[in-house]
Amino acid sequence: MDIKQKVKDLLKEAKEQVAATDLMHNLNQVKADYLGKKGPFSGLMRHMKDLPNEEKPTFGKAVNTAKQELKKAIEKQREVIKERQIQAKLEAETIDVTLPSRQFRLGNKHLLTQIIEHIEDLFIGMGYEIKEGPEVEIDEYNFEKLNLPKNHPARDMQDTFYITEDTLLRTHTSPVQVRTMLNNNGNKPIKIICPGIVYRRDDDDATHSHQFMQIEGLVVDEKTTMADLKGTLEIMAKELFGEQRKIRLRPDYFPFTEPSVEVDVSCHNCGGDGCHICKQTGWIEVLGAGMVNNNVLKASGYDPEKYQGFAFGVGVERLAMLKYKINDIRDFYTNDQRFNNQFK
Ligand code: PHE
Repeated sequence: MDIKQKVKDLLKEAKEQVAATDLMHNLNQVKADYLGKKGPFSGLMRHMKDLPNEEKPTFGKAVNTAKQELKKAIEKQREVIKERQIQAKLEAETIDVTLPSRQFRLGNKHLLTQIIEHIEDLFIGMGYEIKEGPEVEIDEYNFEKLNLPKNHPARDMQDTFYITEDTLLRTHTSPVQVRTMLNNNGNKPIKIICPGIVYRRDDDDATHSHQFMQIEGLVVDEKTTMADLKGTLEIMAKELFGEQRKIRLRPDYFPFTEPSVEVDVSCHNCGGDGCHICKQTGWIEVLGAGMVNNNVLKASGYDPEKYQGFAFGVGVERLAMLKYKINDIRDFYTNDQRFNNQFK
């Protein structure tokens, strides 16, 4: 057969192979097979010696041209394969915009957090600072410096969890009063509110929890009177339960205040006429308060001849339960979304 025809046939066959290849490594193999040293084009060149001299140059040129053409075809195919790979990848990554989306759930602040922030805002507006203290407290700050010496019977009202003989889970936010007074070295006025978690050794039920939240208020200054306390509590009551609310103070006993009072707010449900929420009395007991006991001022370095103060402590859960008519305190802690989402 005509040797030139052989070159043509070989090129045609090789090109068909290249065009049929759609994987990069197969293409490399085809290239090596045809253009390598042991490939058919090199084989053809070996026939050159059998040709008459005058035909040698044309033949050599024909083989080289064919090899060049094949190389070009291979590079072209390389581009085609690359392009196809990109297309395939894009297709695999396409997003199906018709699929239904996942439901987006936006949470909200816990009701207790909302109430704390509300009260914080109110008091910051009146020039108070927010102070926090540790939940693991020493006996001295939780009790002793608050006029509750060891073995004092009033400790019974606040049994707690002891970590050691002298460290315990705080039973109220009042130790933050002590810490703040001590930090001030007895010679600076104080206006603080202290939100936080407190603990009591109580059996949990609808109205008791071994862990709950309080907000403490403390003012210490040189001309602080019970009228300041009453005015402040009235502002808080109106802010939380409505402009129409009134408050009344009833005598009570706390070791750390003297005199001590229990504070009632006129019922926000019936306006004071009497209903099941206020047990037909028209009044609801909301918090304890009083003038800081001289012993407490002294124990933390304040001279009672010069300084007086008032303090109050309010249960956050109790406020929330009254305001939103929640009848089980455990609802605050179980994180049922159906409960939490009601307070958006
Ligand atoms: N610490 C008291 C309690 O937890 C509340 C209170 C605070 C009362 C400040 C009077 C003054 O019961």
